Amino acid sequence: MSKRKIGMWLYSNGGGDKIGKKIIKKLKERGIETLDNINLRHAIAKNSHILYDDIKLDKLDLFFSYNAGEQTQYQMYLYQALNRMIPMINSYDSFALTEDKFHTSFVLRNNGVQTADYKLCHRDDGHQLKKIIKKWDKMVYKPTDGWGGVGLTKIENEANLDMLMPFLNQMDLRYFFVEKFIDYDNTDFRVDIVDGEFVGCYGRKASGTDWRTNVTSGGSVFVREANDEIIEIATKAAKACGVDIAGVDIIYDRDKEEYIVLEVNGIPAFATPEQEKMGLNFNDIKIEKIVELIDRKTRK
Ligand SMILES: Nc1ncnc2c1ncn2[C@@H]1O[C@H](COP(=O)(O)OP(=O)(O)O)[C@@H](O)[C@H]1O
Ligand SMILES: [Mg+2]
Repeated sequence: MSKRKIGMWLYSNGGGDKIGKKIIKKLKERGIETLDNINLRHAIAKNSHILYDDIKLDKLDLFFSYNAGEQTQYQMYLYQALNRMIPMINSYDSFALTEDKFHTSFVLRNNGVQTADYKLCHRDDGHQLKKIIKKWDKMVYKPTDGWGGVGLTKIENEANLDMLMPFLNQMDLRYFFVEKFIDYDNTDFRVDIVDGEFVGCYGRKASGTDWRTNVTSGGSVFVREANDEIIEIATKAAKACGVDIAGVDIIYDRDKEEYIVLEVNGIPAFATPEQEKMGLNFNDIKIEKIVELIDRKTRK
């Protein structure tokens, strides 16, 4: 049997470089060789092959893609093509799904996972938003492909919406996606799932002035235990999306008195060295489960 060989592209900031080295070492112990730093940005496709220097990526046993930093359209395009020939973690389809908030909520709802109520409509049907704000009281306008809380706009009343519409209309959007604004305590749960199993959980809290928990929006991370219900919801959400690795964001809706999934992240960051010092201690178990998963998926 020839030696198993995988390609990897993992983020290097925030302690990612060390995580990568640990994964490579553990894979080596299982007889799996890793070609590191394979950024599809520098790959080219030529007839039946996808080439990185002279490496035929389509001949690898698996490709592990874990870098949220810059997934350009080109990288996504090659990701999709490569996954037609070899297994990838996450699979292209599941990753692309989690990159879109509307598609994710649509799939979650159809698999019995509670999300915020939402509505999507064509850009010319802005009157739909008028109708819905009357019903919902407050809502959030969301870009379907955003991250870090960027572009999220809270709409508090009809007058707010009237003011915002001209700006939205100017932006040449294809559609509008809005969610009901959830009454919650401005904290969330980030639940890590690998291969259908719970790996770890932490919390995030919005800063005093903001309603968004994202660290990029001023939020802070804190140690937080999950309960059985939260773990069950997160596992179900990861399964519904088909992602092998997931970070599921969950908040508690105080009106409906239930947990809801806000989004599923296909490249949830490992705990940074500072966060590990705080007590976020799931990195090693996450690494172990990823290595086990790669081992299983490449066994011939
Ligand atoms: N429907 C909502 N109601 C109340 N708060 C929300 C809602 N949607 C998002 N938020 C807040 O905004 C943050 C970012 O939203 P999210 O959908 O996770 O987008 P992003 O991909 O930008 O993180 C969430 O962590 C949460 O704090
Ligand atoms: Mg989020």
